[in-house]
Amino acid sequence: MIGTKWTADIIRTMKARGAKIAALTAYDFPMTRLLDEAGIPLILVGDSLGMVVLGYPDTTHVTMTEMEHHVRAAARAKPRALLAADMPYRSYDTVPDALANAKRLAAAGAEAVKAEGGLDILEQVRAIVASGIPFLGHLGMLPQHVLEEGGYHIKGKTEPEHQRLLADAHALAKAGAFAVVLELVTPRVARELTQQVPIPTIGIGAGPDCDGQILVTPDLLGMLPWYNLKHVKPRLNAAEQMRAVVKDWKQGVETLKR
Ligand code: KIV
Repeated sequence: MIGTKWTADIIRTMKARGAKIAALTAYDFPMTRLLDEAGIPLILVGDSLGMVVLGYPDTTHVTMTEMEHHVRAAARAKPRALLAADMPYRSYDTVPDALANAKRLAAAGAEAVKAEGGLDILEQVRAIVASGIPFLGHLGMLPQHVLEEGGYHIKGKTEPEHQRLLADAHALAKAGAFAVVLELVTPRVARELTQQVPIPTIGIGAGPDCDGQILVTPDLLGMLPWYNLKHVKPRLNAAEQMRAVVKDWKQGVETLKR
């Protein structure tokens, strides 16, 4: 795939080819460019932006204006990767809102949009897909529901949750989603969804058997030492390394002789 521009259609067909999808988040120009140069095919400007960049307690505070600002920055990297963007909290409550806000994100440079939900947002998904904007689903633990649900809970443990996930995933595929993120879904249910639905499943904390995996890049790089996440082992201790470099530089400045 060297030199190819990644599209939603190419990512959709990776499932049939048995090619695993490695996706990551980015929120600005340098991170998008670095991930792209590393060959990541799908980069998401996630609304995790709220916590990992903007310092909010959860994603429900992220606005359309903030998403547009960061999508524009990421899009300036002109990635070969497909650049997807999250539709923020309450930006897709109605079909007209979903369509207008998906178009705003596309105008800012998003090549696909993601929203949380299944059967409950199906009309919105159909309208977005019909407008020509590729749609990425998001099922399982839905971070935008954290306040109603009182925390981040694993999904698929009960039979009603299992059946609902199956119905939601099939409905999203039928409505034209090109792939679906499965967040904190039990590995058994994630495997079953992956076997049953025709579009790729991209897991986060959903076990090894999805068609791909996605992580919040600052979690992968160990940039947020204040949070302890069970589903990701940082591959770098960037926070510690940054502190050490900054301390060393500071000491150098403070001991400079004239
Ligand atoms: O907002 C985000 O970064 C996401 C990923 C966790 C999939 O939705």
